[in-house]
Amino acid sequence: MDIMQLMKWCRSYRRFDQSRAIPDVVLDNIMEAARLSNSASNRQQLRFLVVRSPEMVEKIFPFTHWAAVLPKEAGQPKDGEHPALFVVPTYEAAEKAKWTDVDIGIAEMRMTLAAAAEGVGSCILANIERGPMREALGLPESTEIATIVAFGYPTHTSRIVDMKDGDVKYYLDEKKDYCVPKRSREELFRMV
Ligand SMILES: Cc1cc2nc3c(=O)[nH]c(=O)nc-3n(C[C@H](O)[C@H](O)[C@H](O)COP(=O)(O)O)c2cc1C
Repeated sequence: MDIMQLMKWCRSYRRFDQSRAIPDVVLDNIMEAARLSNSASNRQQLRFLVVRSPEMVEKIFPFTHWAAVLPKEAGQPKDGEHPALFVVPTYEAAEKAKWTDVDIGIAEMRMTLAAAAEGVGSCILANIERGPMREALGLPESTEIATIVAFGYPTHTSRIVDMKDGDVKYYLDEKKDYCVPKRSREELFRMV
């Protein structure tokens, strides 16, 4: 895939083939992508918890909430559709800096692109129950979680559609594939 194809493919996926584990070589790339990520002042303050064992994945899955825009539960992965892996970026609360969230976003984007290059789908999740998740992961209260990323082999497709009347809501088509409206370039960019 060239880089622009990769950008198109690298959407949010919410149903996975749970029986397919992420191979070590792909996980290596995901971790290396985060390691080499840009960070403010090159501080590299993030630490990443890789939740890989099926038991741990199942332990934190109930604390993740998917596709809030869709009618009730339509976007929540069902049994057998759960992700194969989560990566949980963490930082120490006392060290929270102005750009910590930007660092997290960049690292997550790099990880999702590295995964996509190997056909692995992902979903960034902010709608999580941080308290119970922290406890399930054995993290102390001083350790913060912002957003996390789920990874797995997708069992649906997702395509960009033109936005109508400014409606940003993504939806499912008749095959339950995702359709994601994006604003036009004219709306987004202004040349000066
Ligand atoms: C910071 C951030 C938080 C998100 N949180 C969630 C979430 O909690 N649950 C979910 O299903 N999707 C979540 N998403 C995915 C967005 O819904 C998705 O990016 C958006 O609908 C556009 O779809 P696309 O990623 O395929 O372009 C999040 C995305 C970002 C960037």
